Amino acid sequence: MSQVLRGAPVAQKILSEVAEYAKGKSLRLDVILVGHHEASQIYVSHKLRQAERVGIKAVLHHLPEGTTTREVVDLIQHLNETPEVTGMIVQLPLPAHLSEQRVLDAIAPHKDADALHPHNLGLLAQGRALWAPATPWGIIELLLYYDISPEGRHVAIVGRGRLVGTPLALLLSRAAHYGNSTVTLCHSRTDNLYAYTRQADIVVVAVGRPHWFGPEGLKPGAVLIDVGIHREGGRLIGDVQTETLSKAGAYTPVPGGVGPLTVACLLSNLCRLHRAGSSIQ
Ligand SMILES: NC(=O)c1ccc[n+]([C@@H]2O[C@H](COP(=O)([O-])OP(=O)(O)OC[C@H]3O[C@@H](n4cnc5c(N)ncnc54)[C@H](OP(=O)(O)O)[C@@H]3O)[C@@H](O)[C@H]2O)c1
Repeated sequence: MSQVLRGAPVAQKILSEVAEYAKGKSLRLDVILVGHHEASQIYVSHKLRQAERVGIKAVLHHLPEGTTTREVVDLIQHLNETPEVTGMIVQLPLPAHLSEQRVLDAIAPHKDADALHPHNLGLLAQGRALWAPATPWGIIELLLYYDISPEGRHVAIVGRGRLVGTPLALLLSRAAHYGNSTVTLCHSRTDNLYAYTRQADIVVVAVGRPHWFGPEGLKPGAVLIDVGIHREGGRLIGDVQTETLSKAGAYTPVPGGVGPLTVACLLSNLCRLHRAGSSIQ
């Protein structure tokens, strides 16, 4: 029988630590949402609700679809200079006419709750980051909670996206108690991809393709982390084919695996921003 690695208890633990930290403090998370992407609106309302639940003030800036890059950047600069704002995030994806790079680069590194600014990714690459992108950090928290040490093990990550695959590869290969693994980072140009994933003790799938990763790509008994989230016919499904799960020693379900950890780690990041305070400004 495969072990099911549920995200809820891990997220609960993180959220109670956040609530404890937030007590008696004025933490504020500003969320910028542009346009009417359906899934983004759901994710944002979830983030706002969870923030309020743990005592963090959450402020939504919902901008119309036709907003220009300049207008988003102006808002970010205003929030950068507003002392009450502890941190902010820009919900991705942005409408196609906007420059994601210019928008993310405008966030002051010390207010960058998603840790996507080049400064913060640079610190991550050097092993000096005080906070990290929420989803990969959530995966680390999940492994630690279930006592699955990545140390010394071969981890294959499928997908080199800037939100998940690339920062996770940096985290797992660091000389830290949650790192020290040997990482293979696969992507759409990897030849014979399953030859790599089949050798891995832990496989993380973050490709953004529904029910894509098949059982022939997994070593029996390996740990399988499915990061994908897709809405299909009113239900949520992941990047991994259902038949793959029974071959794993342990796996994250979709929904209920990595998903709950992303919000919890985002709010935990806000505490880290607050703690780091003026020393990094
Ligand atoms: N659970 C959560 O809270 C959460 C949070 C964030 C993201 N997600 C999900 O995680 C997934 C990945 O997100 P992301 O933002 O990292 O995506 P992304 O930036 O679009 O990256 C996708 C990666 O997958 C690779 N890829 C695509 N097709 C492939 C194929 N056939 N074979 C091998 N590699 C392939 C791409 O390779 P190239 O680089 O070569 O194009 C790319 O590196 C999505 O399903 C997203 O919805 C979930």
